[in-house]
Order: sequence, then structure tokens, then C-alpha cells
Amino acid sequence: MTDAAGMNNGNVLLYVSHLKKYFDISRTGFRVTGHVRAVDDVSFTLSGNETLGVVGETGCGKTTLGRLILRLLESTDGDVYFNLPRETLERIKQLEIELAQLEENHDETSKSRMKEIGKELDNLRAEYSLTKMRPSKLKKFRKDMQPVFQDPFSSLDPRQIIRDVLAEPMRLLTDMKPEQIRDRSLNLIEEVGLSEDHLYRFPHEFSGGQRQRIGIARAISIEPKLLVLDEPTSALDVSVQAQILNLLKDLQERKNLAFIFISHHLNVIRLMSDKVAVMYLGKLVELTDTEMLFNNMLHPYTEALLSAIPLPDPKVNKSRILLEGEVPNPANPPKGCYFHPRCKYAMTNCGWSPRDIVAPLQELLEPLRIGESNILPVTKEILTDETKNTVEVVFESAINQTKFEAFKNMLNEASSKANGVRFRAINGISLSSAGSSIVITMKNSDTPTLKEVRPGHFVSCLMYERGAETTGIRGSNVSPAAS
Ligand SMILES: Nc1ncnc2c1ncn2[C@@H]1O[C@H](COP(=O)(O)OP(=O)(O)OP(=O)(O)O)[C@@H](O)[C@H]1O
Ligand SMILES: [Mg+2]
Repeated sequence: MTDAAGMNNGNVLLYVSHLKKYFDISRTGFRVTGHVRAVDDVSFTLSGNETLGVVGETGCGKTTLGRLILRLLESTDGDVYFNLPRETLERIKQLEIELAQLEENHDETSKSRMKEIGKELDNLRAEYSLTKMRPSKLKKFRKDMQPVFQDPFSSLDPRQIIRDVLAEPMRLLTDMKPEQIRDRSLNLIEEVGLSEDHLYRFPHEFSGGQRQRIGIARAISIEPKLLVLDEPTSALDVSVQAQILNLLKDLQERKNLAFIFISHHLNVIRLMSDKVAVMYLGKLVELTDTEMLFNNMLHPYTEALLSAIPLPDPKVNKSRILLEGEVPNPANPPKGCYFHPRCKYAMTNCGWSPRDIVAPLQELLEPLRIGESNILPVTKEILTDETKNTVEVVFESAINQTKFEAFKNMLNEASSKANGVRFRAINGISLSSAGSSIVITMKNSDTPTLKEVRPGHFVSCLMYERGAETTGIRGSNVSPAAS
């Protein structure tokens, strides 16, 4: 049984803290013109023998997160603490909280305390954080965590026989002697349900399921504590998938392994995971025990994802929420909560910004473009200014007060319709002094952070924060967070 921080009684195997990876975008090939926030401030803990499932739509950062943890990729910021004594974890968390609070003050006392905290954290990072560790020290930890990829042979030499494929990590990362490696390879191949003669075959001589068995044998050959499994069964037939998942469960039990299990198949995630992290555009939006997530999910994105699982019994009547629209561009994510443009519970403070109303506004103005000037003049252009939070509708000719009122009525009407929340997020509408344009100013928005809204259940959604709007919110079984 895990507690709120995801620990049981031993050391905490992993504390991922505010981890970030921003990839540079360079359109010209030289100058950096932006960033893809592939992993954006992700934090969680994991104990030995525990499985964290990581789920989310394509491009939400699952693979990047896995590679950062394994340090196959350098992080932009944040830490991956490995094998932490519980008291040290508590100390780090305490320091992080204090630091965040101090950052809001700008006085001299805060600055000197921040320096002290920085020093203490740096010492702890040098000791435990893989992202900050020197390469010589990192080598010792490399063997404690191993990847299992969707296609385990993609990076292997096709001319190597399996005996050599299995031996490689043992040769590189341990002091084992050749005969010990030989004996262990034989044990390993049997442990994953294959036999001795398979050791002398080439990669192309295996089926998909067998290849994955070899991938797993190779990953466990050096007795790691953690496996990062990235879509390990996604390329396999369903029946083979089940065999591989059973093998993994069995090995986990026998070898006391922790798993980070990445998949976009929710049924597989449910079967394999003790707890689940739901990712959306580089951020964790919900994190809790598996059964809690599947039975009592809180985040609207999770709800939509889960409702899309195909049901085994067609007689069961479950309403399916279709996720409308595309995942937004991670190089230019929406303001506020990244999910708000697709969220059916969105409130007026969830992040509505000028760009969110341009298209629906055009749609409203479209019938008027025909030039029925008794309603409004033809629209020349619609300009947005994200910094000022305004949308300017420029008309081909000046409009009088009556037409201005007609425009306001049109927006009023739109705000009462389905999907009208974006129009309710308008703060003010004014007529320019020249009379040929109308300026719409949007309300300020809030940004949710991952908060514990009931024991062990973390959600990043404004609906569960203090002072949330009460209108338009679903009948939630959780009241807005008390703190
Ligand atoms: N090396 C890279 N350079 C630039 N952008 C990258 C790089 N690797 C990943 N990205 C971007 O980072 C984001 C997250 O990608 P990632 O592969 O981690 O997603 P994913 O959740 O694993 O997706 P999938 O389910 O398709 O495997 C995507 O927008 C992707 O385009
Ligand atoms: Mg991936």
C-alpha cells in the first residue's frame, strides 16, 4: 500500500522533481526561434517493486520523460533523485517548498536563506540526483536502471548472435568474468521462457514476442532496480501481448523491480500499474492509485481518455466523451490550463485568450460579411494582441452606437450557447474612437498546478482549487480543495 507521496516503507527509489526538457526549435537552422516543452515541470515518487503507468495522447512527452529518467537525454532543468533515504526525501521536499515561498519575497533575509538552501540542495543533488551527477559516479547508477523499448532490436547489430546481445551490458557495466557471463546468459534466456539454442541465433530469426523476451532478458541481465518500459507490447498481437505482460509481472515479483510503464493503451496500463500518471502536453494532470484513477478520476482530460476505452460488453451503456480537436502545438501551448480549449467543463478563468475566440468570432461574423449593412459593416480583419489580451475587429466602415449594441448582443447570445464559455471570458468591449473597430478584452486567467485534492490523489485543474466557479461544473464527488 502506498501513501500520499507514493512510498512504502523502504527507501524511495525515485524522486523525479520539477523535471523539464525543452527542445530548441530553429526554423533557419541556426537561430533558436522557440522551444517544444516536451516535459514541463514533472514531479512524482516511485518505490521499489512498484509500477507507475504513464499514459497520454501521442506527443505528450512520455518517451522524453522515460529517456530523461534514464539519462539518455540531458534535462533542461529539474532532478531525478535515485534511491533516497526517506528522511532525505522529506528534507529535499521541505527545502523545495521553502525555496518556492522565499522566491516570492525579494528582501535581503530571503536572499541569504535562499543561498543556504541552494547550497544544501546542491550537496544532496551531487549525492543523489542523476541529472547533476558526474559521469564517473553516474556509471555506478547506470546499471540500476534499464530501458525496454517497443522494438528491442532496433539499435542492435543484426550480425550479433543473441548470446553476444545478452552479454554486452554485463561486459560493459559489471566486473563479471566471461564464464560467469556465459552461465548467466543461459539462466536469463530460460528465465524469459526461451531455450539454450536460441542463444546461437541471429536477431532476424525471432518473432516479435521472442524479440521482446530477449529485450527483457538483456534489460534484467545486470540486475537493475528499475525498468523504464516504453510501449513494450504495442507492436505485438494481443495474445502475445498478454504473455509478455505476464512475464514482466512475474519477473517484477521475483526480482523486486520497479517499473515505469509507458503506454497509450489504457487497458494495459490498468493491468500493469499500481499508480498512474496522466500526461498532457508535457505536464502531469492527474496522478493517483490505479483503481482510484479508473473509478474516480477527477481531471476532465482523464475522464475523456478513459471514456474512449472500447468496452468488452456492448450492452453496457457508457457515454463516450470524444476528445474534440487536436492536441495543441507544444511549441505554442494554450494559456492557463493547456487542456482548456478541449475541456467540456472549462470555466472563464481557465486560460481563454484572444486566439481562442478568433475562429468562433469569424464564424459569428461570417453571415454579416455578405454586406447586409443594416446589421454590421463588412469585417476587414481581426487582430489579436496576446500581451494586451485583446482582439480587435476592424470593419470596412465606421459603425454607430446602435450597431455597436447589436455586436454586443450578438456576443451575449453566443455566450449563452454550448461552447459559449470563451465568450463569457470576455471582460470588456469598446468602440474605437475612430468608430471603425471594436476592441474586445479578455478576462485574466489562472494556471492550475498539481495539487493533492484528496489523500494520494493529485490533480492539476482549477475546478478543484479554492474559489472555483460553481456554474457549469459537473457534479463532482470532490469539493474544491480546502487548501
Ligand atoms: N529530439 C527532439 N527534438 C525536438 N523535439 C522533440 C524531440 N523528441 C521529441 N520531441 C517533441 O517532444 C514532444 C514529446 O515527444 P515524445 O516522443 O516524448 O512523446 P510521446 O508521448 O512519447 O508520444 P508517442 O505516444 O507518439 O510515442 C513532441 O512534440 C515531439 O515532437
Ligand atoms: Mg513515445
